[in-house]
Amino acid sequence: MGDEEWEELQRNLEATIPVYDKINRFATLGQVSRWRGMVRKMLPEGRVLEIGCGPGSFAEDLVGRELVCLDPIPEMLRTAEERVNVARKSRGEEPAEFVKGIAENLPFEDDYFDAVCTLFSFRDWFDKRTGLTEALRVLKPGATLVIIEPAKLNSIHGFLGVIWMKYWVAAYARIVCGVKDHPWKWLTKTYSEFGTTRDYINMLKQTGFTDVSSKLIFPGMATIWHAKAP
Ligand SMILES: C[S@@+](CC[C@H](N)C(=O)[O-])C[C@H]1O[C@@H](n2cnc3c(N)ncnc32)[C@H](O)[C@@H]1O
Repeated sequence: MGDEEWEELQRNLEATIPVYDKINRFATLGQVSRWRGMVRKMLPEGRVLEIGCGPGSFAEDLVGRELVCLDPIPEMLRTAEERVNVARKSRGEEPAEFVKGIAENLPFEDDYFDAVCTLFSFRDWFDKRTGLTEALRVLKPGATLVIIEPAKLNSIHGFLGVIWMKYWVAAYARIVCGVKDHPWKWLTKTYSEFGTTRDYINMLKQTGFTDVSSKLIFPGMATIWHAKAP
């Protein structure tokens, strides 16, 4: 992805904020909350980094962890900070920390986190291999990485995913956003360019992660990758 495309993607992501949760619920037939719950259960106690926190939809309900949320878009961070820290305060927890940055150049020291997670963001990283290398660097030995993205098992499954996003999700996004040129068109674009489950299993292993596994989530709409730092 070139600089211009990256900037356009960020502008489009920012434009999703007001309707982000509503359209995601529709796009996943209401499954997204359950998937986020599955990721939360996979995260150990301790210090957790969420890369690409967006408007805080996952971070809001992550209970009992020391939390750092990272995103390159200031408006995402502002929205997330308010939402997440109101929820944390109501539970009597310390506020989370919000940091502007990119996966490809994490502003943290080595061996710092007990877990790194990234939900519906990995697909957008412009250099996934560098991002994974950075995630590995900031994880303590034996710590956990969890990634979730729309599933793509092979080219046929990917083709069905594109149809789903291009017609079903896009039709709803057009109605909700009230414009033909809605930001969800980028979902189809980044998904089309995304690799298969196996591609990222291989990339995780090549980067140096161990115990790499993946799970296709019912009904075949998303994949969770799980790995450990050696
Ligand atoms: C679709 S939102 C996901 C929000 C949230 N994680 C969730 O569970 O819904 C994706 C976020 O990833 C961020 N993102 C995209 N590319 C990134 C990168 N290279 N490094 C870090 N964050 C990135 C975007 O700015 C956006 O806020």
